[in-house]
Amino acid sequence: MGQLSRPLDVGGMQISNRFLRSATMENMAGANGQVRRDLLRLYHELAVGGCGLIITGATAITADGRAWAQQLGAWDDAQVEGLSRLARLIHRSNPTARCAVQLHHVGSAGGGYSYGSLTQGFDLNRAADADITELARAFGRAAERVQRAGFDAVAVHGAHGYLVSQFFSPVFNQRQDGWGGSRENRGRFPLLVQEVIRREVGPDFPVLWKMNTDDFLPEGAGREDYLWLAGLLAQAGAALIELSGGVKEQAKLRNQLRREAGEREAYFLPVLEAFRSAVGDTPLALTGGMRSREVMEGVLAAGADMVGLSRPLICEPDFPNRLLNGPDRRRSRCTSCNRCLLSVASEPLTCMEFDPFEKVIRDI
Ligand SMILES: Cc1cc2nc3c(=O)[nH]c(=O)nc-3n(C[C@H](O)[C@H](O)[C@H](O)COP(=O)(O)O)c2cc1C
Repeated sequence: MGQLSRPLDVGGMQISNRFLRSATMENMAGANGQVRRDLLRLYHELAVGGCGLIITGATAITADGRAWAQQLGAWDDAQVEGLSRLARLIHRSNPTARCAVQLHHVGSAGGGYSYGSLTQGFDLNRAADADITELARAFGRAAERVQRAGFDAVAVHGAHGYLVSQFFSPVFNQRQDGWGGSRENRGRFPLLVQEVIRREVGPDFPVLWKMNTDDFLPEGAGREDYLWLAGLLAQAGAALIELSGGVKEQAKLRNQLRREAGEREAYFLPVLEAFRSAVGDTPLALTGGMRSREVMEGVLAAGADMVGLSRPLICEPDFPNRLLNGPDRRRSRCTSCNRCLLSVASEPLTCMEFDPFEKVIRDI
């Protein structure tokens, strides 16, 4: 068997294989962001499905930072009990599985590609200094709750045009003070978030990052900016950096990238080498478009430490085990139709193409 089955050390966390479940909104929590049965079932299936590292969907650090009505929350101590059930369940379902919660704040309305049903309006351009540092502290408090709940790591959603990436992207950040303008200033908030989380969770708890490699917008942050930021995050102790990209209209962007790439999967692969140089030995995950084992092995051979999967695991949570153990090692049946992304704005996460129940209710 190739590299996919090899274990990996991520900041002291032992991961049994190279599959990373990239954070995927479940929209299955209670009205107060609490863990519910559907969520437990989803993560049970993912854990027994063999994914080495499972990252939850975007989990809100404040109640008003949510983009989805049924988004999971880590803003309140009362949520810790449910989160610890979730961590326990993952570990019991598969003792070799490692899990992290992805921390998220939506930022200004319409920024991310959530298609979410809530319209929030934190305007980073009008925020007072104290509001900004308070938000960084909210990331820290949420991270400490994740740690207390028994997860193996915490992850930061620093990509896709939500709050953290809004600060770094000139598309959103028009501040003229110390939080905006130069990339040093725009990078202050992401680095502050890392610093505050580190202070809260101590030196040994892995802090993972998902970040853009490019905003893919003429006035956005570009490759060089993100290489610079990745280097600083690595220096600041990020245990793993997951590479993604884009800020808006992500469904369209992905289709475009897929078209441009022809049949090629792994559409961010061309920038991997540059990010490897930028981050040194810090583990890197590449996410986006991977569907077949050969391509995933190629991505690892090209220098990634993990392959991130989202949509293939929606239609087939045991895809990792299928590829690792065979005999059926065919590519994912996910067609990247993106209807999961559109529907999760208002419904619990499901595969719109292969969930048998979707076929039953389609024409009703
Ligand atoms: C339904 C859906 C929900 C998603 N939710 C999140 C999320 O909560 N956090 C995040 O960082 N990315 C999220 N993403 C992006 C994925 O993690 C991933 O970066 C992207 O889908 C590309 O990978 P794939 O081709 O394996 O699906 C979501 C994508 C989909 C389709």
